Amino acid sequence: MAKGLAVLMSVLLFVLAAPSKADTQDGPGSSSHGGSAPTHIHFYFHDKITGPSPSAVKVVNPPNNTSLTSFGVMFVMDDPLTEGPDPASKPVGRAQGMYLSADQARIGFLQAMNIVLTVGPYNGSMITVLGSNHINDNIREMPVVGGTGAFRFARGYAQAHTHFLDPNRLDAIVEYNVYVFH
Ligand SMILES: *[C@@H]1O[C@H](CO)[C@@H](O)[C@H](O)[C@H]1NC(C)=O
Ligand SMILES: *[C@@H]1O[C@H](CO)[C@@H](O)[C@H](O)[C@H]1NC(C)=O
Ligand SMILES: *[C@@H]1O[C@H](CO)[C@@H](O)[C@H](O)[C@H]1NC(C)=O
Repeated sequence: MAKGLAVLMSVLLFVLAAPSKADTQDGPGSSSHGGSAPTHIHFYFHDKITGPSPSAVKVVNPPNNTSLTSFGVMFVMDDPLTEGPDPASKPVGRAQGMYLSADQARIGFLQAMNIVLTVGPYNGSMITVLGSNHINDNIREMPVVGGTGAFRFARGYAQAHTHFLDPNRLDAIVEYNVYVFH
């Protein structure tokens, strides 16, 4: 609790000391980049593991069924990214990579992916994300560790929030806010 409060206080102080111009829906930007605001990228991620044309496939099974968190399971994804939550809304890119269960205590994945943008000024550029995704948390934060094209030298963070989860099939629509300096 005390630690959480300390973190909150330092975040608040940081915001007061250095307001960001970014459209910060879920969190502060950082002003450590010569005072300029990070680029904010917003999209919806569609992870479909069922049906005839899944966008994510299980490639490794856990060794047995005793793990409540499917510890060891691994999926490879090539998930469509769209402007809005509707899968039929404008496509803006793909999330290509993998996620694997890496927590034995609660459901949490190590997620490694390239966000490949296919429209607008960033068409053809990639943002690389590597982080921890505990899917039952409201907001999950994952570091941006690099990029290509417009995102060379990228650093920043992505925040994921589940917009919709099919309770039976586990297909998910996840809202992403990505803040990058590049
Ligand atoms: C299956 O899980 C049990 C209980 O966690 C463990 O003792 C056993 O070694 C596991 N088997 C394999 C093949 O991983
Ligand atoms: C888990 O158990 C079910 C039912 O016994 C079986 O069909 C399935 O193949 C098992 N999965 C793994 C990953 O061992
Ligand atoms: C994105 O770039 C590709 C490759 O240069 C091009 O074929 C495509 O038309 C571009 N898409 C948009 C929406 O600009």
